[in-house]
Amino acid sequence: MVQYRKIILGDPLETEAVVEQPEAEQWEEAGGLPGFLLGREKKILRYRMRDSQLVYGLGETVRGINKRGWKYISDCSDETNHTEDRNSLYAAQNFLLIFDEQGAQALFVDTPGRVIFDIGFTHAASLEITLDELDAAFYYAEGSDPLELIREFRRIIGPSYLPPKWAFGYGQSRWGYKNEQDIRRVVEGYEKAGIPLDMVYLDIDYMDHFKDFTVDSEAFPDLPGFVREMKEKGIHLIPIIDAGVKIEEGYPVYEEGVKEGYFCKKEDGEEFRTAVWPGLVHFPDVLNDKAREWFGNQYRTLLDMGIDGFWNDMNEPTLFYTEEHLEEVFRRLEELRGQEMDIWKFFEFGDLTGSISSRAEDYRTFYHDFRGRKVRHDKVHNLYGYYMTRAAAEAFRRLAPDREILLFSRSSYVGMHRYGGVWTGDNKSWWSHLLLNLQQLPALNMCGFLYSGADTGGFGSDCTEDLMMRWVELSMFTPLFRNHAALGTRVQELYRFEELAPDFANLIRLRHALIPYLYEQFVRAREQNDLLFTPLALAYPSDRRVRTVEDQLLLGDALMIAPVYIQNAVGRYVYLPEPMTLCRFRSVTDYDRLELPAGDHYIDLALNEVAIFVRPGHTLEVTGDTISIR
Ligand code: NOJ
Repeated sequence: MVQYRKIILGDPLETEAVVEQPEAEQWEEAGGLPGFLLGREKKILRYRMRDSQLVYGLGETVRGINKRGWKYISDCSDETNHTEDRNSLYAAQNFLLIFDEQGAQALFVDTPGRVIFDIGFTHAASLEITLDELDAAFYYAEGSDPLELIREFRRIIGPSYLPPKWAFGYGQSRWGYKNEQDIRRVVEGYEKAGIPLDMVYLDIDYMDHFKDFTVDSEAFPDLPGFVREMKEKGIHLIPIIDAGVKIEEGYPVYEEGVKEGYFCKKEDGEEFRTAVWPGLVHFPDVLNDKAREWFGNQYRTLLDMGIDGFWNDMNEPTLFYTEEHLEEVFRRLEELRGQEMDIWKFFEFGDLTGSISSRAEDYRTFYHDFRGRKVRHDKVHNLYGYYMTRAAAEAFRRLAPDREILLFSRSSYVGMHRYGGVWTGDNKSWWSHLLLNLQQLPALNMCGFLYSGADTGGFGSDCTEDLMMRWVELSMFTPLFRNHAALGTRVQELYRFEELAPDFANLIRLRHALIPYLYEQFVRAREQNDLLFTPLALAYPSDRRVRTVEDQLLLGDALMIAPVYIQNAVGRYVYLPEPMTLCRFRSVTDYDRLELPAGDHYIDLALNEVAIFVRPGHTLEVTGDTISIR
């Protein structure tokens, strides 16, 4: 049995990421962290990597499954470009797994501030972890089986969130469905095309002037009635909730929050003001127990209307600007006006207007009342999304203990996995993001996030029908399966791709037929602290070939998936570490089987074909419309 040690540096804040606490040892008495040297400047830990070691983990980040060769910064960010030159996305999931044939080490860096993981970026063989503050708890374990280290980590961070079973269905979303009619049109589009639909998501457009827990009564004159009507069709409506609360006299959430002192404050004790969708807002201090309880209680308004699912957004938290900084920008722009715009002034002009959002400086101007201490936001920045989601989940237990409620969030920290799932934010309709989606899944699982998925088809930019088809062929295996797109992009509801609509209908039905397996494996992964998606290098440790296989994953214990992620490809290479049965599905009832020996294979996969590989010792049987996998 492997065991985590908890080694403490300085005086860290308790994040409540870990629930089964090992006995704490101080850094000095523990003799430091095995294998890691503490830099002279005391904020850098260094570890020398052997060439043979792979480094996995870090949850939702850019790049591949093996994190070697880049610098990742845990600093929850509203990053709309998930390109490989980025360092931070929305999450902070500081779990690392370092392994090769000689053994494995796992490390969780528990600190709510910024952490830099330089994994062979500055020096190829050097792993350097830089902390913003000298206060952190390190959870460390070693052993011979990396999967056991993951399991034990998952055990100490507590069980993953279990969504309602219906949340394994297929959902349609789009920023820009303005009213009931828009949603009816979407539902009709699906009905006419014969494509099953289980959820429709409501983006910010449903609210009255983007005020949390309000409904635009012109757009949705009778939301409870509409919720009922949709439920009769088997469709759940899932509204978004944003972190910022609009500053507006007469708006009860704002007024009550101010009266009770539940919003984050500046140094001088005044409420911190910033801007997001509704214009000026306050941030609820979800890190404070009372304020968190209060904010959670607000979800009741929508629960009472029959709503049984939510997505929490903009909770890094994102801020568009602060009034103070905006003033400064206008002042400097005035100075620039009339001057000769040489190249440097031109750059400055661009910088002034282009970098006003979510500035590190602004995050240093407000405070939380956290565990009886006044804590500056930047020092606990990475906890905000976690605690906002926790606010909701705790409220659901109080307010609706008998109801099962879907909940997921954009920003996250380890610990939040007990309260909700995650979606991976604003990706793009790019083929590279289809692959990134696959590569993020096992890393998310390691950190406890089992209910996760990406915006299918891509959020930003325009989706093509073939990209959507291939993406559905991956998302049909992810617990969270949602087609979502940004305002202004090409419409991408599945029925819009008319010629392919029958194929989409087949694939969504195939997803439905797979739900029994997905759900059973989800529950098993949750109970046994296992991965739902396992990289091949962890499953076949003695096979050196699989160390670089980053486009195939095991799904549960019986299956392997290997989607096509290259445009115009009508097949792909797969590597089989053991003999497998290839089931090539066009629909639940239209498929062929092929027994394949271990080794390399080129598999033909037409645009409407999905490959499911069945591992030895397991079976996949189709009877009528059901698929049973054992
Ligand atoms: C940002 C979210 O990531 C996206 O999914 C959503 O559509 C927009 N906010 C608007 O609410």
